Amino acid sequence: MPKFITFDVMDTIQLKDLSFKPYISSAEIATAVKNVAARINEDLAGKNPLFLCVLNGAFVFAADLFREITIPGAEIAFIRMKSYIGTQSSGEVQLVSGLTEDISGRTVVIVEDIVDSGFTLKQLKSILQECNPAEIKVATLLFKPESLKCDVTIDYVALDIPPAFIVGYGLDYDELGRNLKDIYSVVQD
Ligand code: IMP
Ligand code: MG
Repeated sequence: MPKFITFDVMDTIQLKDLSFKPYISSAEIATAVKNVAARINEDLAGKNPLFLCVLNGAFVFAADLFREITIPGAEIAFIRMKSYIGTQSSGEVQLVSGLTEDISGRTVVIVEDIVDSGFTLKQLKSILQECNPAEIKVATLLFKPESLKCDVTIDYVALDIPPAFIVGYGLDYDELGRNLKDIYSVVQD
């Protein structure tokens, strides 16, 4: 059996060649998600917003966020983008699977796991703009302000973090670690 993940007494985990240490607990994440949901519930009350979960990374955040949304007209859909290879943003963003819903005239809320360089978000926004939505809002679980390399507006940020590479709560290192309940940051050697 290949050994992908191991725990030691210090709660450090190993994913392939990298070690990660506990960084943001599931309790802290839950509080941040509730706070963002409360702001969205207030701002978008009375609308028929379509939450657009950016797969793969945002699936856990989207599931938790959407269950905190109390707007009766809220709907959810999924889109798939890919820009990361290992721990580096490739700079080239691919739309792996597209949108089937009609978003013209609607309020769209992009749900992202993390905004790093911002290229994925910028590209997705321009793709969606072509479909004539009424407005596009962005909700992200995590934002690395120091890594931002383009001009893009983010409406709702649950947690700001420094540029370190992280995994857990849907975020991966080469597809591993998405199942972790807490968020872990890479240990630099
Ligand atoms: P950006 O295009 O550079 O903003 O990157 C956005 C995407 O890269 C996110 O949706 C994530 O899937 C991935 N990503 C960025 N930073 C991290 C990280 O620290 N850990 C895991 N994935 C990340
Ligand atoms: Mg990823």
